[in-house]
Amino acid sequence: MTRSRSTSFHMIFRQFFDPLSCTYTYLLGDEPGREACLIDPVLEGVDEYARWIHEQGFRLVYAADTHTHADHITGMGRLREMTACRTAMGEKSPAECVDVKLAEGESLSIGSFFLKVLYTPGHTDDSYSFVMADRVFTGDALLIRGTGRTDFQNGDPYQAYDSLFHKLLHLPESTAVYPAHDYQGRTRSTIGTEKRLNPRLQVRSAEEYAALMASLRLPDPRLMDIAVPANRRCGQTAPKADPERDG
Ligand SMILES: [Fe+2]
Repeated sequence: MTRSRSTSFHMIFRQFFDPLSCTYTYLLGDEPGREACLIDPVLEGVDEYARWIHEQGFRLVYAADTHTHADHITGMGRLREMTACRTAMGEKSPAECVDVKLAEGESLSIGSFFLKVLYTPGHTDDSYSFVMADRVFTGDALLIRGTGRTDFQNGDPYQAYDSLFHKLLHLPESTAVYPAHDYQGRTRSTIGTEKRLNPRLQVRSAEEYAALMASLRLPDPRLMDIAVPANRRCGQTAPKADPERDG
């Protein structure tokens, strides 16, 4: 499933969906400058993204991940090989292969618009959200009627509470929320709707949130042991042979 539309400030916006991991990948294109950015690309989707970008006459300038994913392999590295785009993540990312490491408050410029970087740890310690004037890409920090689990990859429910209640929920209520996943086909929400209807956000303290998250007892993602090490290499599934050592 993909959706696309133009926005009022000449931005092309498209939402791709990976059915295996239920991941949403977002393409943002600056119409006048024909520059584009992908957020949370999935390895299996890179041919589709690249074809679409080429057909529409855009040039991919950035492929960015919101965090080190545990349930799918990132397409960032493969896209860099295919298009010479730059890869980007937050500065806490352990992936040394990433070209641009962003700190909170910095921005990623794509033609005439930019994504402002908000550090939103808790799901992982390298989780970031990308904020625009009318929307936010929350990765797994804030999902639709849910929030990212906090029980691995240095997750911390107290940090998650802080990211949610002291950062993301302070955005204007009309801000559209675009998460990295949805498992029920929902494509977008708003900050105001999630404040009212998200069951994880109906808590009164960080302690209550931590107790709620501790009660979940979720199984590990199926691909976790493959995806996390691969994503620390920008999606390369096996380390390149070292000719000195292996030859
Ligand atoms: Fe995640």
